[in-house]
Amino acid sequence: MSTNVSLLNRITHYLVNRKGKQMRPMFVFLVAKMLNNGEVSERAYRGASVIELIHTASLVHDDVVDDSNRRRGFFSINALWKNKIAVLVGDYLLSKGMLLCIDNNDFDLLKIISVAVREMAEGELLQIEKARLLDIDEAVYFSIIRKKTATLIAACCSLGAASVKPNTNEVDQMRHFGELIGIAFQIKDDLFDYGEERIGKPTGIDIKEQKMTLPLIHVLNTVSEKEHDWLINSIKNHNKNPKRVKEVIKLVKERGGLDYAVSKMKEFQQQALEILDKYPPSDHKNSLKLMVNYVIDRKK
Ligand code: FPP
Ligand code: MG
Repeated sequence: MSTNVSLLNRITHYLVNRKGKQMRPMFVFLVAKMLNNGEVSERAYRGASVIELIHTASLVHDDVVDDSNRRRGFFSINALWKNKIAVLVGDYLLSKGMLLCIDNNDFDLLKIISVAVREMAEGELLQIEKARLLDIDEAVYFSIIRKKTATLIAACCSLGAASVKPNTNEVDQMRHFGELIGIAFQIKDDLFDYGEERIGKPTGIDIKEQKMTLPLIHVLNTVSEKEHDWLINSIKNHNKNPKRVKEVIKLVKERGGLDYAVSKMKEFQQQALEILDKYPPSDHKNSLKLMVNYVIDRKK
């Protein structure tokens, strides 16, 4: 990652020292191992590296988009170096990821990753469009999270498969497996926003950003017209008022919004586990099961 530009080197050091849970590369390796008797190839290492680079790029850009000043328990890049620099650092990480594939002729992996990047950008834009119109329903919510989050975890699992078993059905099967985990992952992430736990990034900001997520969408569909209008008015006109946002959160909790989101999340978890059931027993399959359950049980 090192370059002649010392500013860039300082920032990449900062990023490397604050790495996250590295769940995505773990999915690449575990899928590759489950499908290939515990062996991984060089391609799996490169694929895992590319995924982590692209993921980091997307978070650096996302914190600009969301104007968020915390990430992984520390200041975000935009908080420390401002938006201009954060946008360019994101671009740099993205191009380094792409080049790692190109320089090694991993064009099949590059395709998987490029589709994910395109879908993430589409998902973020769809989310902005819907936040402006405040007309998001469950189908749109699932479409947003499938694109902005699940597509990259789907890419991890299909890339893990493609790294050891290119051009097989396993690549599509594992893509589907990853997509289910990714949807559950984002529902969990959206549930954190309703909590007060310290998770390394701000909570309670989705409503402020007029981002409507599953707990709120469900409650909007089930409450009286009066409460529905109060909720919409709160999000439309009082989203920057912390007291009003707290009242919205309280109502969503009282009306079972969180319980509903948890039950939906568990449906996706079960579907993912059912796909794993089709594979013969192995240590790596067990580890993947642990990972699926971790996505749902994690504390940050
Ligand atoms: C986090 O969502 C953000 C994403 C899952 C995707 C971000 C994608 C882009 C900005 C476009 C792709 C860009 C590149 C360079 C690959 P969130 O804001 O709901 O979650 P958070 O609470 O972690 O911020
Ligand atoms: Mg964000």
